[in-house]
Amino acid sequence: MTDRYCVFGHPVGHSKSPMIHADFARQTGQDIDYTASEPPVDALAEAWRAFCAEGGRGANVTVPFKADAFALCDTLSHRARRAGAVNTLMLGGNGLTYGDTTDGIGLVRDLAYHRVSLRQKRVLVVGAGGAVRGILEPLLAEQPAALMVVNRTAAKAAQLAGDFADLGNIQGGGFDTLEGRFDLVINGTSASLAGDLPPLPETLFSPDAWAYDMMYGADPTVFLQWAGPRGAKLLDGLGMLVEQAAESFFMWRNVRPDTAPVRSRLRQSLN
Ligand code: ATR
Repeated sequence: MTDRYCVFGHPVGHSKSPMIHADFARQTGQDIDYTASEPPVDALAEAWRAFCAEGGRGANVTVPFKADAFALCDTLSHRARRAGAVNTLMLGGNGLTYGDTTDGIGLVRDLAYHRVSLRQKRVLVVGAGGAVRGILEPLLAEQPAALMVVNRTAAKAAQLAGDFADLGNIQGGGFDTLEGRFDLVINGTSASLAGDLPPLPETLFSPDAWAYDMMYGADPTVFLQWAGPRGAKLLDGLGMLVEQAAESFFMWRNVRPDTAPVRSRLRQSLN
């Protein structure tokens, strides 16, 4: 029987994951079936069990199920435990469910793809929600000189910095605590969705800096539209999406796909 995989989301119709994984499977010659599934918002665990009973071997998990996926796992990766969220489920041969989160490593791999090194750089992360919690451990593993987290609700940024302080030089606070310039600024807020721009100072970027928005779309996000004229080189979250998917695919199939053609195809599909 063909191994089955899916993405769980609600809504899930917009998800690019089926297209990405179909591309990976074709490219690597893996015989898998990957679909999209939209369980009721309170029924992820039931949906996962039913899926496994019908040949399901693994799943991606997106909004709003990442915390529910975390809760249903029998075993968890270290980084998923830190993130408090799971975006990749895998059914083990023992029938136990393993959970991991590949979002952060996807971001780091996307930066590496564009030859952006974090080592000894000053990095700013804007936002302190679930999406940001999911990227902090992999970011700190790249050994930036300093990692600053700022958020509209300052206490949440301070809390995050405290939670990850054992992993590196990380500080958190409100926008009023911002000092100095940064080599990489990552927008991890959902402000772009509302067409809003976080209140960032004009003097944010070092020479040669990068601006990264974890969101993406057919047009540059509000944050990237702001960052470009201020001298930053721009990256959106499309590459992160493809790389996190590649990490999931590798976990399930033990084959690493080439992300380059999938990036191009996905970018074209946005227009
Ligand atoms: P996600 O899972 O996408 O991280 P979340 O946990 O709801 O979603 O977090 C959303 C993040 O975007 C938060 O950091 C939020 O700031 P608050 O913690 O102060 O709410 C941030 N955010 C959302 N809209 C924003 C806006 N218009 N301006 C600035 N920050 C915004």
